[in-house]
Amino acid sequence: MVPKITTLSGYIHEYQKSIANPTGFWANIAETFYWRKKWDTILEWDFQNPRIEWFKGGQLNITENIFERNQFLLGDQTAIIWEPNDPKEEARKISYNELFTEVQKFANVLRSHGVRKGDRVAMYMPMIPELTIAMLACARIGAIHSVVFAGFSANALAERIIDAEAKVLVTADGGFRGQKIIHLKDVVDEAMVDCPSIVSSIVVKRTGHNIGWNPKRDYWWHDEMAQADAVASAEIMDAEDPLYILYTSGSTGRPKGVLHTTGGYMVYTAYTFRNVFQYSSGDVFFCAADIGWVTGHSYIVYGPLLEGATSVMFEGIPTYPDAGRYWDIIKKHKVNQFYTSPTAIRSLIAQGQGWVQDIDLTDTLRVLGTVGEPINEEAWHWYHDHIGNNKCPIVDTWWQTETGGIMISAIAGVIPTKPAFASLPLPGIQPQIVDPEGKKLCGKGVEGNLCIKFPWPGMARSHWGDHERYVESYFSQYKGLYFTGDGVKRDEDGYYRILGRMDDVINVSGHRLGTAEIENAINEHPLVSESAVVGFPHDIKGQGIYAYVVCTDIPENSEEELKNSIKKGVSKMISPIARPDQILFVSGLPKTRSGKIMRRILKKIAAGSEEYGDISTLTNPEIVEEIVDKNINLNH
Ligand code: WT7
Repeated sequence: MVPKITTLSGYIHEYQKSIANPTGFWANIAETFYWRKKWDTILEWDFQNPRIEWFKGGQLNITENIFERNQFLLGDQTAIIWEPNDPKEEARKISYNELFTEVQKFANVLRSHGVRKGDRVAMYMPMIPELTIAMLACARIGAIHSVVFAGFSANALAERIIDAEAKVLVTADGGFRGQKIIHLKDVVDEAMVDCPSIVSSIVVKRTGHNIGWNPKRDYWWHDEMAQADAVASAEIMDAEDPLYILYTSGSTGRPKGVLHTTGGYMVYTAYTFRNVFQYSSGDVFFCAADIGWVTGHSYIVYGPLLEGATSVMFEGIPTYPDAGRYWDIIKKHKVNQFYTSPTAIRSLIAQGQGWVQDIDLTDTLRVLGTVGEPINEEAWHWYHDHIGNNKCPIVDTWWQTETGGIMISAIAGVIPTKPAFASLPLPGIQPQIVDPEGKKLCGKGVEGNLCIKFPWPGMARSHWGDHERYVESYFSQYKGLYFTGDGVKRDEDGYYRILGRMDDVINVSGHRLGTAEIENAINEHPLVSESAVVGFPHDIKGQGIYAYVVCTDIPENSEEELKNSIKKGVSKMISPIARPDQILFVSGLPKTRSGKIMRRILKKIAAGSEEYGDISTLTNPEIVEEIVDKNINLNH
């Protein structure tokens, strides 16, 4: 197990050590894992010509570090507590031994379908244990998993499968979400029309409803598993061999396949998991994210299982059968650490005090966490007072798909917290704030763009098939620094407060969406000639999606109809999560002389602000007045 910091002075000491000698610091932590062969060098890096290699020459398999390393210690211990969507259905407890057997069986299934080291396996799954099993089975045989969030549309799924050239797809007939059945296999069948790289799709039976079947391609999970051998050797991986791809949105139209590798990611997720949440053996950890996002990869699957934890996996939604569901789960499974998003908290606040009035969860609950977006003070206090009964520290964890794990966060009970502040960098993390011109802002009481100046083991190494875009996305803005895309403030105590994205990425309910991606989807509509999408403050979702749309023609009295068909188009192209909240039809967009859309102004208007700054550099300043007037009408 990785070492655990337990006091503030311990944190300060470890932090200083990690800055003075980063490689020595991380090598010490890496020593606690099982390596088939020790690394030759701890770190080789270059942020000018970006290349990052941790533990180069080291050989390992991450599943050996989950199972074999811990087997005698953990065998019968519960690895996963699976809580179904419907509380009337029985929860499942899967021990480390059982999970190990399932993983090996599915590893053999994948091998029998021709999957070899380096091949990509896509997953489009509900929150069921088979998803974790499939991911770990990939890791067992050195295949690269690419989990696609089950809320994405057929088009978005196909785009990701094509980009990764995935060979096998693991899916399910459907999934349960509240009262709804999500027809995953239908979406898959639609996507498959465009995905010639897929040779087999393996289908878990979850809902049991009728589905289409392609006998040349589709196989039932249970049939395949029934024949599979329960022992599968671990493929020996280099530390820098890919572990997984996870697609996320950037400032250009196409989603990018963020690539994580094996050794560094393992060390980083385990270390941050144990320390931030102060996990002790025997605790029950509940991360309520979906495994389709990085939070689930790092803090439902890899971090907890590497540390021998019991990890709760929840299939359903926080409001089914009622808005007390999370609190029921915490009580039922005696949860010690609970990790969720500010959006989930705000949506539960909106359900009223009744659900939290008489509860006290602190018999077991010790730590609360949030992730994905800035948490407003009101939500922070509600979480702290009502869920933690003023006894549980809140860790507001800032990180990104690209960082692999938590970067800036309190360490529960060790680093004092402040509402709405992510607080301090974890050991090994060296933030650098810069102004827009790249000037380094040092000391306390400064605000600017958040960069990181030294590599950490969990960081993404590339974008799948497009290293140039990786370089362009993070290393081109400020020479020699990794740019996060976020704005930040460091206060008089040296505490960090994340201010949100500075680029063309919006964060809706903690889901990351590129404005360009949404615009592309809107522009597909035959009546649309141009559009500009910005975020605007939204009470529950954090940010909502505001689309300014220029049409070639709006048939009389059909504005509402047209809006709906544009929204539908976006759901179909991307996902219902990308559906605009507001659409405003305008006759033009404010542009600079070089033809660039002035989003700054559009953001201000969408936020209801009346100060849009200098508009004299626009080619069409008159359009601003039109947009402002129309926006006022839209909102009244
Ligand atoms: C973006 C990354 C990290 C896993 C889930 C999201 C925002 C994340 C916080 C936080 C304020 C946060 C940032 C970041 N963000 N955590 N604690 N406080 N903002 O991963 O989809 O890659 O999004 O989420 O803007 O850049 P992601």
